[in-house]
Amino acid sequence: MTAVAGGTPSKLLGDPVDRVDGPLKVSGAARYPSDVTFPDLAHAVLVQSTIGAGTIRSIDAGEARAAPGVLAVITHENAPALPEGPMTPLGPTPPFALKDYRILHYGQHVAIVVAETPEQAAAVARLVKIDYEETTPVLGIDNPQAPVLRNPWGLEMQRGDAAAALASAEVVYDETFTIAAETNNPLGLFATVARWEGDRLTVHDSTQWPTMVRDCLATMFDVPENDVRVLVPYMGGGFGAGGRTWSHTILTALAARVVDRPVKLVLTRPQMFTSVGHRPETVQHLRLGATLEGRLVAIDHEGTSTRATEDFQIEPITMVTGAAYACPNVATHDRQVRLNIPSPGAMRGPGVIQGNFAIESALDELSYTLRIDPIELRLRNYAEVQPQSGLPWSSKALRECYRVGAERFGWSARTPEIGSMREGNWLVGYGMAGVTYHWYALPCHASVSIGRDGSAHVRSAATDIGTGTYTVATQLAAELLGLRIDQVRVEIGDSDLPPAPQSGGSGLAISLSGAIQDAVGNLVRGFLNVVAADDRSPLRGRSPDDVTVSDGRIHLVDDASVGETYIDILTRHELDKLAADGEFTPKPEGAGMAPSPPFAAHFAEVRIDAELGLLRIARMVSAVDAGRILNEKLARSQIIGAVVMGIGMTMLEETIFDSATGRIANATFGDYLIPVNADVPDLDVVFVGEPDRFDPVGIKGLGEIGIVGVSAAIANAVYHATGRRIRSLPITIEQLL
Ligand code: MOS
Repeated sequence: MTAVAGGTPSKLLGDPVDRVDGPLKVSGAARYPSDVTFPDLAHAVLVQSTIGAGTIRSIDAGEARAAPGVLAVITHENAPALPEGPMTPLGPTPPFALKDYRILHYGQHVAIVVAETPEQAAAVARLVKIDYEETTPVLGIDNPQAPVLRNPWGLEMQRGDAAAALASAEVVYDETFTIAAETNNPLGLFATVARWEGDRLTVHDSTQWPTMVRDCLATMFDVPENDVRVLVPYMGGGFGAGGRTWSHTILTALAARVVDRPVKLVLTRPQMFTSVGHRPETVQHLRLGATLEGRLVAIDHEGTSTRATEDFQIEPITMVTGAAYACPNVATHDRQVRLNIPSPGAMRGPGVIQGNFAIESALDELSYTLRIDPIELRLRNYAEVQPQSGLPWSSKALRECYRVGAERFGWSARTPEIGSMREGNWLVGYGMAGVTYHWYALPCHASVSIGRDGSAHVRSAATDIGTGTYTVATQLAAELLGLRIDQVRVEIGDSDLPPAPQSGGSGLAISLSGAIQDAVGNLVRGFLNVVAADDRSPLRGRSPDDVTVSDGRIHLVDDASVGETYIDILTRHELDKLAADGEFTPKPEGAGMAPSPPFAAHFAEVRIDAELGLLRIARMVSAVDAGRILNEKLARSQIIGAVVMGIGMTMLEETIFDSATGRIANATFGDYLIPVNADVPDLDVVFVGEPDRFDPVGIKGLGEIGIVGVSAAIANAVYHATGRRIRSLPITIEQLL
């Protein structure tokens, strides 16, 4: 780190700059994977299993192969055997669909058909006749026949003696929570366009992690990583669905190799439900022990989620249970039930969001039992230090989240008695929930250069899945280099660029910012090296600590008049540009402090029609501590979008697997409900806290914190309005009648 970290890292809120890619998007110039085309492009359509479990006895593709326009019909019978996909930091590659003749779930890809036009491919797909040997699929999270994995990811933790503390607690809470499966529904249908030139493969793919897809394709097609390029400059949303290399991507690359032409596949909306993961169904058993004054003495939290039969994927339900409150005795248990369902994946706030619903609902219940205000109850259990390590947090403004959120919401107007805030026919309820979240940042590289025209070019294989990566990277680089926004160009979404991690786990802004900051420091040092012995330079012999940057100039910290522009240095030394690489490496934990997650508090006012049970969200306030906010406008937008998604999870979203066949009964936008504008009131978002001390740039990641806690805040408000405690999501009208 040098003094060149221009700007003001102590500033909490970054400028609310408009999206730099906004004009490209609204004018249709931004190229999404499904927009990519070639003159000789062929089109692929998937054929999917119509049974939930069993084997393929035979395939009759004769009629399909004879149909007009058909180029190939690829099934497990004629597909080459591919090696297993690799393990990644986000888990294994999901099982390859065409591995053999076995059917593991309804909607499994059993063939990919390639034709001259999309219409021909769709018609040919219907002509592939498959004779199945059907067995009874294992379905249902409570199915006694389902294999159960215990502690598969080693997430279980113990602190103190939860069993003993529960046995002697003055107050004991013991309840079960269930949350339906949900499906990631980014508006952009996932698409892949694959093209081989000899043994070199280029793939345009809807993914949150291009280098992961590259590594997977390189392994499975046995070609060097450098010969595979994965591009995703723009993506129509991910929410976790793009966190794995799914079979359709591999199949499209395979199809392109077989027909020796570029091939495009665009999933249909129903196929999105079985092809790119989902939030698994969960059951949680939560026990709390407390004193009559409301101090937690024990937490015992068991989370169970569903898994696909041959997949191995994490759903960390209890991951932050031990970190959220200052409770001396904690035990967590992690179980996964293997079923004949499509592979789940991550969906915004995976695991933690379900755990939070249970804990924050339970605390609300305790607040009524003990007659303590819900915020006061949380403050009595405030984790002043990281409860497991005992180390001070690198930043924590959860108390301010409670205070500022409550003020903006008008929490003091709440009368604690159930049903006491009726307005005409509407039962009014106020509810709140606290959030301790998490982030997951992996190593990241970036390169930054400045050219003879004084403009900067930032390059990294990171992605912008709609969240604003282009914009915050531009802003940060501009600030650190002392340039205007329009002097910085950010190039991302290409696996050939310096390697970067996933846009996910709320970690990319942390990783990428760290890499850019490091690269900028190296670049300014590079400029000083160029002029180190230059008699004509006012910066001759200066060390990085002596200088800072502004207005395209490097100058002395003490005297801004002593310095010169990047352009002057490059011109005098006849350099076209100067470039430097930067790297972010996650620091080992410890180092005298506990790396802080983001924190938040959500407040909800609900109205419930006393006769019909109709539930309406009247307003919500979300107070968020995510450390330094790089762009206030985009960050607010992130939180608003996440709260909307949380409203969906709470009131509407449920992926319904037919209990006999495993078929999804509502795999369309007509049947799978997500919030529309009429479901969403004005959402108030406020950022509190300070730049984080652990992260070099001061940020904590806010891609997911906004959705976590929304369900508990709403369910708690529903209880306050009606006296009905809902421990099952989504909250349906039947539960309120
Ligand atoms: Mo994710 S669920 O894309 O962090």
